[in-house]
Amino acid sequence: MKLIREPDELQALALSFRASGKTIALVPTMGNLHAGHASLMDIARPQADILIVSDFVNPTQFGPNEDFDAYPRTLEADMALAEAHGVDILFAPAASSIYKADASTFVKENSCSQGLCGRSRPVHFQGVCTVVNLLFNLAVPHLAVFGQKDAQQVAVLKRMVRDLHIPVKLLVAPIVRESDGLALSSRNQYLTAEERAAAPQIHVALQALSAAVSAGERVPAKLEKLFKETLSAASDLFEPQYLEFVDRETMAPLEKVVPAGTLVATAVYMKKTRTRLIDNILL
Ligand code: PAF
Repeated sequence: MKLIREPDELQALALSFRASGKTIALVPTMGNLHAGHASLMDIARPQADILIVSDFVNPTQFGPNEDFDAYPRTLEADMALAEAHGVDILFAPAASSIYKADASTFVKENSCSQGLCGRSRPVHFQGVCTVVNLLFNLAVPHLAVFGQKDAQQVAVLKRMVRDLHIPVKLLVAPIVRESDGLALSSRNQYLTAEERAAAPQIHVALQALSAAVSAGERVPAKLEKLFKETLSAASDLFEPQYLEFVDRETMAPLEKVVPAGTLVATAVYMKKTRTRLIDNILL
């Protein structure tokens, strides 16, 4: 596996692979790689000749009061994990080589990105779209793999690829969970032991809601009440930020839950550390 730091070097190499007829898969990450990222690599690996993983904590997708500085950076361990999953190139650039000090061009999606996480993180998806577009220009992939854990990110990026006619195929990988149901996330390591013990209840509450839909409930407000009650009965450490019932493609809110195809997405703060956990379930 080759570690590349410079954008120009990655682009020249990727273009030379393309010129010699090789196919390229890209898995964009912010590093601190775990089994969730490994599952993306395992999906990508058989699909292309060359597998590139980017490992870059992208400053433009963090708001001023968010965890950019605290976000774990673990390049040594990331290299070992990537190598073990058959990655050919790990691209770990410095922020200064990705963004010039006077960079003034950004990519903004204006529909799917507005609700859910976009409401409380106004610059987030513009940062994601910009960096993913930029990574596509550097790695020139035929396909790229993203995780369903970030369901809104998937919808926004699909829209960006469609609207800008970007010649890349997007694959979506299922959520990977701990054995107790907690969705894997680098942010789980911010949790206290008590918060970590409670956190799987987010998935339990989503499942309870899904069971209520199967039993015939269709009214979002009633399902939201059930979700919140399940969380508060389990622990007082939860502070739900949102629970929304949306169309899986457009992220548009649904007035009535459709049993097949509704995405139920949530963000919940854990009160002690103010860690914000997201999860979702597709009905
Ligand atoms: O999902 C992530 O880790 C990031 O948002 C991504 C896609 C790597 C862009 O920085």
